[in-house]
Amino acid sequence: MAQNIYDDAQFFDGYSQFPRSREGLAGAAEWPSLRAMLPPLSGLRVLDLGCGFGYFAQWAAKAGAAEVVGLDLSENMLDVARRNCADLPVRFARADLETAALGDGAYDLVFSSLAVHYLADFDSFCARVRAALVPGGSLVFSMEHPVFAARATPDFVTDAEGRMVGAVLDYLREGERLTNWIADGVVKHHRLISTTINSLIAAGFVLDHVEEWAATDADIAQHPEWEKERYQPMFLLFSAHLSAPASA
Ligand SMILES: C[S@@+](CC[C@H](N)C(=O)[O-])C[C@H]1O[C@@H](n2cnc3c(N)ncnc32)[C@H](O)[C@@H]1O
Repeated sequence: MAQNIYDDAQFFDGYSQFPRSREGLAGAAEWPSLRAMLPPLSGLRVLDLGCGFGYFAQWAAKAGAAEVVGLDLSENMLDVARRNCADLPVRFARADLETAALGDGAYDLVFSSLAVHYLADFDSFCARVRAALVPGGSLVFSMEHPVFAARATPDFVTDAEGRMVGAVLDYLREGERLTNWIADGVVKHHRLISTTINSLIAAGFVLDHVEEWAATDADIAQHPEWEKERYQPMFLLFSAHLSAPASA
């Protein structure tokens, strides 16, 4: 079973202080880019994997999705998600994305924000997402960018010239990383961009867009605290789809 760090009280308290936790999608720097990669949601059956506090599920239901299901490993996160979506046609359930069956042709869109870097077996995940989608269905997801996920500590260091440097050690060694982020010993899994792309292709996905998110001048004007996001990308975003069978 995967590590369930979001049910650790100290970690959960720390994570709950972040702007994305308190403000929802408005507090997620990469959300405008991710939103631009989504198809129109009206009438779609949507699965949100690693749904966290349920902010995307809430947005999807309000955007007209016919059905929204959110899955997460953490009871803490699911409790908040259920409260955030109390009056909406959204269902939440506990599941380990490492192994859970995700359905069989049950969804038009699978969405996942910042969860897949917690998974050891991305090939298995892609195969199960593929099975969950209808032909022609879409997958839109984000992950920690590998230059960030590869590091044991997310903090920058200052070099002899006073520049901020993110020390990316061991970039080509894929696999488990024990990181000190909010709490010590958080387990993440580093994989290369090429590995991620090749897993998607092997599972039958057609890539539509890949983005290494960066703060723009307009972002920095509004959020000076994002300046360090200009040094290295923190988020990697993908949209992909399954081919629909040719009509007879
Ligand atoms: C960084 S949070 C992102 C939450 C939300 N998607 C967002 O973007 O705000 C990562 C989420 O993935 C969940 N998660 C991590 N590993 C998981 C696993 N193996 N199965 C299901 N959920 C998992 C965590 O519990 C947490 O809610």
